[in-house]
Amino acid sequence: MNELKVCVIGAGMISDFHLQSYRQNRRVKLYGVYDLSMERAAEKAVRFGVQKVFRTAEEVFADPEVDAVSICTWNHTHAELGVKALEHGKHVLMEKPLAMTFPEALRIRDAAVEPDIVFQVGFVRRFAAGTRVLKTFIDDGLLGEIYYAKGTHLRRIGNPGGWFADRSRSGGGPLIDLGVHLLDVCWYLMGKPEVARIRGVTFSELGNRGNVEGLSFYKAADYCAGKNDVEDLAAAMVTFKNGATLMIDVSFSLHAKQDETAIRLYGKNGGAELEPELVLMTEQNDTILNIHPQIDHLTIDFDEAFGAEIDHFVECCLDGKKSEAPLEDGIEVMKMLDGVYESSKTGREVVYDQDDQ
Ligand SMILES: NC(=O)c1ccc[n+]([C@@H]2O[C@H](COP(=O)([O-])OP(=O)(O)OC[C@H]3O[C@@H](n4cnc5c(N)ncnc54)[C@H](O)[C@@H]3O)[C@@H](O)[C@H]2O)c1
Repeated sequence: MNELKVCVIGAGMISDFHLQSYRQNRRVKLYGVYDLSMERAAEKAVRFGVQKVFRTAEEVFADPEVDAVSICTWNHTHAELGVKALEHGKHVLMEKPLAMTFPEALRIRDAAVEPDIVFQVGFVRRFAAGTRVLKTFIDDGLLGEIYYAKGTHLRRIGNPGGWFADRSRSGGGPLIDLGVHLLDVCWYLMGKPEVARIRGVTFSELGNRGNVEGLSFYKAADYCAGKNDVEDLAAAMVTFKNGATLMIDVSFSLHAKQDETAIRLYGKNGGAELEPELVLMTEQNDTILNIHPQIDHLTIDFDEAFGAEIDHFVECCLDGKKSEAPLEDGIEVMKMLDGVYESSKTGREVVYDQDDQ
């Protein structure tokens, strides 16, 4: 197969990055788009030159012309759509989070029985230029064994509203939305160690700060500042079986001076900051060195990262490559997300046995 016919399901904010990246890939035909809102799907079809607007998900899956789907819908639909796509033999690029809960993620795993069908999770940070460069240095041993990592994504006002603020459709707030990326990229760069224990806390103190004026922020396609039942701050400590530890804190609403994103990893031979800007640290000849890689994007550039993510997905589908962001990693990250929510609910640490799957 030399051409991949793709249908994008869910035509909201993030679908633009998928549609644009597919459009730029010469091996892809943008075949279809489907959204609960026909109007939105039709608008995207015109804007990105998509051949067909589907009316139902069933139509998409039943169409033998569709080779692959990007699922860019609300989180509570991920498991069902993912399972159906797999049952119909479609390759899947699933936006993060893989599902709303760990049991839902396992339902997808149970449907992934066909080894030639690609299932990639939208861990876009893995594909950012900075991450790719840092990974080569980690693989070469510059950091040595990584024993501590810390990820921060604090928004002072950044609840996207709509379904993001409705737990029944999102599964949670900043943890499942932003924390998923931090847990993933740190865990990935740490060498994907096995989870041993999780302690998490969440707070719902400020609400969505819908009263604040004068600041713009990311909004869901169906933004409304009304309903909000998700946490506005989450923090967690994940300890792995090799003793390494990962800490994260994430917020939609916080009395912070400014928004902040930081991703830092510390190893026995060196350290690295991936955000806010890629820099590596080490020691040589009794001297501390800060190493500044010379690349175009020292912080994540979403156009570039989505382009790389989707080019990789297309290669996996057409050339039989193994995905760099496979289903099993989505499941492991989902386990961590569930662990943080569970710990915050019970006030206790969640401890994992050998076979918790
Ligand atoms: N990778 C990233 O950095 C990133 C960033 C933002 C959002 N996302 C993820 O992308 C997904 C969508 O987020 P968004 O910001 O685009 O939200 P959005 O609300 O802007 O768009 C979602 C669209 O999906 C449609 N939809 C919902 N359920 C559907 C269904 N069953 N069938 C067809 N269409 C359906 C809605 O009508 C809407 O148009 C979420 O899972 C979110 O977590 C990822």
